[in-house]
Parts: sequence; C-alpha cells; structure tokens
Amino acid sequence: MNYISDSNISNKKITTLRLLEMKKSGQKIVCLTAYDALIAKIFEETCVDVILVGDSLGNIVQGHETTLPVTLEDMIYHTKAVVNGAKRPLVVADMPFMTYQVSADLAFTNAGRIMKETGCEAVKLEGANSIVLSAIQRMTEAGIPVMGHLGLTPQSINKFGSYRARGKDEKEADRILTDAIRLEEAGAFAIVLEKIPYQLAERVTNAVSIPTIGIGAGPHCDGQILVYTDMLGLTIDFQPRFVRLYANLNETIQQAVKQYGEDVRSKSFPSIEESY
Ligand code: KIV
Repeated sequence: MNYISDSNISNKKITTLRLLEMKKSGQKIVCLTAYDALIAKIFEETCVDVILVGDSLGNIVQGHETTLPVTLEDMIYHTKAVVNGAKRPLVVADMPFMTYQVSADLAFTNAGRIMKETGCEAVKLEGANSIVLSAIQRMTEAGIPVMGHLGLTPQSINKFGSYRARGKDEKEADRILTDAIRLEEAGAFAIVLEKIPYQLAERVTNAVSIPTIGIGAGPHCDGQILVYTDMLGLTIDFQPRFVRLYANLNETIQQAVKQYGEDVRSKSFPSIEESY
C-alpha cells in the first residue's frame, strides 16, 4: 500500500546520494528513530527518508539510564528487525559504546558485522577524535557509509556529566565546526548535530557540503531527527523543548487498556460475535 500523498516525495529508495541531492535542492530530510519492524513499517508507509536504529534503544526499549550498556548484538538484533520492516528509507545503525573507540581496526570489523548481518545501509559514530576519523576513512573506502554525530554525544555522558546543550561558548563552537569539516574530509555522508545553538548549526550546515541532521539544533539543518517515542508522546517523563508533540500515545494506550480491563472484568468482552 502506498500512503505517500505529497507530490514532492517519491517512492524511490533513499540512498546517501539522494540525501546529498536533497541538501543541494533544499528539500528537507525527514528522519526518525525506530527499533523494530512494526514501527519501521509504519514509517515506511509515510514520509520518513532515514530511519536511525539509535542506541537510544538502551533508554527506550531496555530501560537503562544511559546508552552505554547497549551491545553490538543488541544493535544487530534491532537493526535486522527494522530492515525487515522498511525498504524505502535509508536505514542507519548506531555503533554502540566501545565498539569503535578502541581502535580503527576494531571499529572497521564491527561496522562490517553490522552491515553484513543486518542489511542496513550505513552506520553512525559519535565524535571526531583521531580514531573515529581514521575509522570513518577506512569504512568509507571499503564501502560502508558513515554518519557522524557532533554536539551532545550521549555516549560521553560520564565525561561531561550532563545532557546540557553544547557549543554555547566560542571555543566549543569552533571545535564543533572544525570537527564537522574533518568528518566530511574523512568521508562521512551526513552529520547529526545534537543540542547546539541554531546559529552554530547554521554555520556548520553552510560550511560542509554533506547534509546536517538536527535534533535540538534549530531550523537551518538540512534535515531533522527525533526519537519517535518522544514526538508521539510515549515517553512522557522526557519532554525537552526541542521535541514537538505530534500525538499523545501514552494517554491513548492507557485509555484503551483501561477500557479493555473494564470490559473483561464486566464480562462484556468477548461477546458471542467475538467467539467461535
Ligand atoms: O541514539 C539516538 O537515537 C540518536 C539520535 C538522538 C540522533 O543518536
């Protein structure tokens, strides 16, 4: 079934090349996270260009405080499920904490496993230190597209001690800009910019020729990404100002389940018509 009604959106498979064309033509890139086939299929049938299997699944699916406990096996399991559910969007898998920071060699091997075992089309790494940059270079040379991630990098929570916005002082802002240019030079095909001032995101977006994907980084990025459970109102305990609520599924589910409970207890469900 094809639910795509916007004439600007085609049914064509999204590739890294297509994202580059979208930046050039000023067409915004729509990205969301997903962690399973059910949700990925719903996104496939709407207008989502990129699905990120974020290591935010550590918080959302596994109930951890941070993304740090997520393993390579967890990412492979969830990415496989997303790939099964969505064919049109570009599927990107996060590389979890300590699967790429140790050495470019290990990063390369682990990225290869993710690509081979899941069928996704790209991986994402946080930061731009020398190991990350040489890992990106090796991956792109070998045909593994890499998305970068700058600004707030949740895997560094223990270094920074909080999830505050980044790049608010000149030194940190300049560093983020330089890192973005380095990521592009290393071969990254896009960069997530998380929780940085919108003026800085605009500078970065103008300074690189690859698309920038913002989350809490203002309107000037080439695309936007949100954690889907935030924008659908499922994760009610986390509503930062960069999240716009498009639904209140927590309330909808609670109402539905409450009604189901009442129907079972009052013996009105199931009816004879709902029986064999
Ligand atoms: O893990 C994740 O969901 C992410 C997005 C917030 C960009 O990295």
